[in-house]
Amino acid sequence: MVAWNNFDTLTSYKKLASLANSVNLKEVMSGENGANRVKKYSVPMAGGLSYNFAAKQVDDDVLVALAELAAEAQLTEKYEELYNGAVINTGEKRLVLHQLSRGQLGKDVIADGVNKREFYVAQQKRAAEFANRVHKGEVTNAKGEKFTTVVQIGIGGSDLGPRAMYIALESWAKATGNLKMTAKFISNVDPDDAAAVLDSIDVAHSLFVLVSKSGTTLETLTNESFVKDALVKQGLDPAKHMVAVTSETSPLAKNSGYLAAFFMDDYIGGRYSSTSAVGGVVLSLAFGPEVFARFLNGAAAQDETAKNKDIMKNPSMLDALIGVYERNFLGYTATAVLPYSQALSRFPAHLQQADMESNGKSVNRFGEPVNYVTGPVIFGEPGTNGQHSFYQLLHQGTNIIPLQFVGFKNSQFGKDVLIEGSTSQAKLCANVVAQIMAFACGKDDENRNKFFAGGRPSSIIIGEQLTPEALGALLAHFENKIMFQGFIWNLNSFDQEGVQLGKVLAKKVLAHNTDGALKAYAELLNI
Ligand code: F6P
Repeated sequence: MVAWNNFDTLTSYKKLASLANSVNLKEVMSGENGANRVKKYSVPMAGGLSYNFAAKQVDDDVLVALAELAAEAQLTEKYEELYNGAVINTGEKRLVLHQLSRGQLGKDVIADGVNKREFYVAQQKRAAEFANRVHKGEVTNAKGEKFTTVVQIGIGGSDLGPRAMYIALESWAKATGNLKMTAKFISNVDPDDAAAVLDSIDVAHSLFVLVSKSGTTLETLTNESFVKDALVKQGLDPAKHMVAVTSETSPLAKNSGYLAAFFMDDYIGGRYSSTSAVGGVVLSLAFGPEVFARFLNGAAAQDETAKNKDIMKNPSMLDALIGVYERNFLGYTATAVLPYSQALSRFPAHLQQADMESNGKSVNRFGEPVNYVTGPVIFGEPGTNGQHSFYQLLHQGTNIIPLQFVGFKNSQFGKDVLIEGSTSQAKLCANVVAQIMAFACGKDDENRNKFFAGGRPSSIIIGEQLTPEALGALLAHFENKIMFQGFIWNLNSFDQEGVQLGKVLAKKVLAHNTDGALKAYAELLNI
């Protein structure tokens, strides 16, 4: 049996507090010592990736204490409970099964009389068959013409993950002949979002994928009507242009207005749903089912690494532990995710939801207030663009913000140019290593304005190329990191009550059921 205890009751909490600031990053990263750390502090991941944490404020003593924390908090045992089907989502009394959508990690999980692995695989097969039929021209528009574009309508987890994954593989798919359909996404209830997407596509050759687990989300249902309206105005039958991805219990499940419906369930949270039908339908349509299967394989292989009790063989757990050390004992409030890969341009936005909706909590899994800080603020942009934007604050601002770099040795297209002795890819990679060292070691200067204090920690995930397997591994790495951090903080990382209040108030505003300042604000915006 695992014990769910608050972080500050653990013995390792006190030990780690006593070690805080014991490592001078500038010192340990200078000279040969630094070179040794770069070689030593690297852990293999799945998908040909590795996690290098040489430029973190840890040493062997801190790592021993983090390993003790992992054991005392029973992190791998809790993961085992999760993938074997325990009710880990205490707030909603639900199982947490997203890992099962990409592999069988433990026992068969039977819930509501259904073998859940079989259910997810069956939905993947249905999505694969449907995508193949669309690609072959067996499912067409009313005129018998092939669909060329797929448009996902959804918000939050029904948008961010699938959109980030699509963007991540679009160039790779073009370069390797795997782009079967162009994908677009409509999420915001802002009418300009749907209008702009509709304006950019050939509606008559577009297939719309309506994604909502609950089937009740205001933005998604509004955008569905927006799109249906546009289809009708062009003399097209919406029922021939639309499929749904939802849970079997949602109002959308029994709606005859779709070509087909694909299912996920309440045991997969929206922000963890990229590997379920939520990501599976759009990604299989865009890239073909084989590519989606490769992406799932990468995620499954990374999930396997998360079983390892040895923190040096479990990069997601190690990343989680270091993140907690930084948050609770070094006092850092944010984490920047900085992929040196244009393909990962929306990955930080996906992680914002995945991390902040999971661990942005002040009560433990039993609803009791906790006396320690929990999830950090997550933000980021791809490098090198970010360097010309907010890196000023990262280098010389008053807050230290730990950095999570991601970089690849090779580009996706392979097209490049040699200018002044180096390729663009070499310039990209040179920048990321330069940044790691500039942040860690800083620069002395008599002019305080040009002085860099250094001591700013970072890690880097390095890969050969951003392939479907590498992307799957990267996604699962962060999902598992967030899960382990939630375990350490004793949170329920799998509900999101904090998003409800705003929705309730917005409904009141639309119903003109307001008074006081809410009414006054509504009037300011002409509602
Ligand atoms: O409002 C937050 C949220 O519930 C997210 O957790 C979820 O990903 C998103 O809304 C969309 O929900 P649904 O898929 O049910 O439309």
